[in-house]
Amino acid sequence: MCRLGLLIITGAACVALSACGEAQKSAAPAPAPAELTAAQKAALLAELPAPYNAGDVAVGETKFLLCRSCHTTAPGGPSITGPNLHNVFGRKAGTLAEYKYSDALKASGLTWDAATLDAWVADPHALVKGAKMTFVGLKDAKARIDLVAYLKVETSR
Ligand code: HEC
Repeated sequence: MCRLGLLIITGAACVALSACGEAQKSAAPAPAPAELTAAQKAALLAELPAPYNAGDVAVGETKFLLCRSCHTTAPGGPSITGPNLHNVFGRKAGTLAEYKYSDALKASGLTWDAATLDAWVADPHALVKGAKMTFVGLKDAKARIDLVAYLKVETSR
């Protein structure tokens, strides 16, 4: 009788334990998007030509406040008023599948790099007549250099 009781208790403990193991497994957090290390950020910046490779990423981040209402930068981030900018360096202009671009941008033949992004941010409509980005342009050249540096690091995660 006593032995049977022990068996039942052991059995119950076993079930409880394995249930606990399951719960732990399903509660494990999804892997967070990797944060770049300082060395990885420096390596990305170094890929840019001068003067962008000496841009101030922290200042550039404050300039991106001008863009943030319309653009996301995270991998797989949504396109809102403007297209998601993840991996924008090397992207042919107007080619993100889920976004509806203007015909003008699609036909521009541009590929985004430091120089084309600089010109776009300075005056989008001077670069691409008929583009639908409602942005007056950032006239300060140093601010654009910092913004391009920030974009490189932020959109290449
Ligand atoms: C008011 C909303 C708005 C703001 C602010 C804005 N954009 Fe845009 N952006 C757009 C729209 C809309 C398009 C699509 C243009 C088209 O199709 O002609 C676009 C397109 C772009 C593209 C082309 C991407 C591609 O896939 O070809 C880049 C790069 C870009 N914007 C960068 C910026 C940056 C950097 C800033 C800040 C300095 C900024 N934008 C500010 C709305 C905005």
